[in-house]
Amino acid sequence: SSIHSEMEKLLGTTVGAEREACKKDFEGFRNLFHRFLQVKGPSVEWIKIQRPPEDSIQPYDKIAARGLPDGVADSLNKLVVVKLNGGLGTSMGCKGPKSLISVRNENTFLDLTVQQIEHLNKTYNTNVPLVLMNSFNTDEDTKKILQKYTHHRVKIHTFNQSRYPRINKESLLPVSTSLSTTGQNAEGWYPPGHGDIYASFYNSGLLEQLIAEGKEYIFVSNIDNLGATVDLHILNHLVGRHNGKRCEFVMEVTDKTRADVKGGTLIEYEGKLRLLEIAQVPKAHVDEFKSVSKFKIFNTNNLWISLAAIKRLQEQEAMDMEIIVNTKTLDGGQNVIQLETAVGAAIKCFDNAMGINVPRSRFLPVKTTSDLLLVMSNLYSLHAGSLTMSPRREFPTTPHVKLGSSFTKVQEYLTRFESIPDMLELDHLTVSGDVTFGKNVSLKGTVIIIANHGDRIDIPAGSMLENKIVSGNLRI
Ligand code: UTP
Repeated sequence: SSIHSEMEKLLGTTVGAEREACKKDFEGFRNLFHRFLQVKGPSVEWIKIQRPPEDSIQPYDKIAARGLPDGVADSLNKLVVVKLNGGLGTSMGCKGPKSLISVRNENTFLDLTVQQIEHLNKTYNTNVPLVLMNSFNTDEDTKKILQKYTHHRVKIHTFNQSRYPRINKESLLPVSTSLSTTGQNAEGWYPPGHGDIYASFYNSGLLEQLIAEGKEYIFVSNIDNLGATVDLHILNHLVGRHNGKRCEFVMEVTDKTRADVKGGTLIEYEGKLRLLEIAQVPKAHVDEFKSVSKFKIFNTNNLWISLAAIKRLQEQEAMDMEIIVNTKTLDGGQNVIQLETAVGAAIKCFDNAMGINVPRSRFLPVKTTSDLLLVMSNLYSLHAGSLTMSPRREFPTTPHVKLGSSFTKVQEYLTRFESIPDMLELDHLTVSGDVTFGKNVSLKGTVIIIANHGDRIDIPAGSMLENKIVSGNLRI
């Protein structure tokens, strides 16, 4: 059809290695696009959805209670840590890969990851490698930075995920007229979601290489989830047999709160565990989906997956993930769609898949500067690249922080705090408008600071605000 001839034309402009890479991308895209055209109606029938069987989602405590055997190092040597590193820092106002944003004591997400794995390798005398899945958006900048870890005790590999063309919503033709991803064409291409990991990892040859080195499992997570550390109890569960069977896929889930009603949940469907995302839910059932009592848990995107199983499913072309249709409006006003998949959606393809209900501490994503304020504060302490909540906080819940639009960009956010306030006793913070914080401010209970348009509020150094509303020229 016409989209294919457009793609062939683009391919004709390349040579050599670039041509080979483009060819693979186009093949992948062609499959996805073909499947997209065939999809009719919703991917799940609501009445067929069942609660997962009792033992398919196990509490973390039950798994940890079995204790650790002596052979932890052997298990670690079968493990590969994979971080999803295709995304940019755009939503926090940064250019370049998100993983290169400083989050704590001048350390970036990537620094912390490297420190964690290095610590493991030194403690257990092991060789756990780190694999980064980059995208065409992040590859170059990431590789430049990687040089700084040359002398660290972590072998780092990278591979690139695919690059697919955005297509016009009406004509379904590619919007890009050249393969270039800069200048005029920057908006013509996209990385097709983290579900792309299976095909890209396999196609890169790295998956084979790691299997040949004796690796058996990958632990995959979002690079912006600071709680996604290697957990030895989960690893131990994975390498063991359960009723004579090995588990090929573990999804770490955690209890839903009213703040995360949108996360994907696990269901039983046609006898298999399946990830149900809000986009798949028929409109009439969205409220039900969001309810905390019916769908109690959500996917943290911390996943433990068998390498051999990925290889098998790729070779059998049996990896099947629902297509997420993401609609966007480009700067020029053109409406486009990009077809994506999510890594967790493949759970239904694996044998003996299970969920483990982990403590909330394993889900510490930094999506906004409000999240960043929490992880930079004295609520957490940093040891060997891992953040743990301070024992000095009375209840182990994180405060609810809502910073306004003048804090959205990391650069501007940083200039607004002379130092990060003491937040150990904070429950709720809302800040809106032109507000700055002096050194050594302490926030307790519920604090609301609202500077009206045209006003500025400077919280003086050393202030202690406890259950206070500060607004305009009115101070209570
Ligand atoms: P997102 O940044 O999209 O976060 O990706 P999210 O909104 O929580 O995402 P979903 O709902 O799970 O998709 C999460 C992680 O996946 C990576 C990002 O870099 C981030 O670490 N990612 C995302 C990729 O590596 N490639 C992609 O195509 C998309």
